[in-house]
Amino acid sequence: MPAATAAGSEVRTVEGLAVDGEPSDVQRAMARCGTVQCGFCIPGMCMTVHDLLEGNHAPTELETRQALAGNLCRCSGYRGVLDAVRDVVAEREAGAAAAAPEAADEIRVPHQIPHPHDGGMA
Ligand code: FES
Repeated sequence: MPAATAAGSEVRTVEGLAVDGEPSDVQRAMARCGTVQCGFCIPGMCMTVHDLLEGNHAPTELETRQALAGNLCRCSGYRGVLDAVRDVVAEREAGAAAAAPEAADEIRVPHQIPHPHDGGMA
């Protein structure tokens, strides 16, 4: 976007994603999943993924692909980015469950038993 149209707006850059000087969970996942090759596209990918996960805590692969549209990567493809999003969602869910174990207990239905005909829970 032209810089003039951002006048008066809060501007966040990829450097602003770090927490206490450490890369964010998204940045770490992107590196871990092999998305960083030449690095040209990575700031935009990270900003897009952060924005996506702020509004949608568990995007489907299609939603992630739609969010990434327009972020072009000529090196690594997009599989690693999709894997990174999946990893971050799983990490955040695990962190939330660990932080509030009673909330995780609330969604359990302890009296259900596996039904013999469906191979799963009744
Ligand atoms: Fe090189 Fe994406 S890592 S363009």
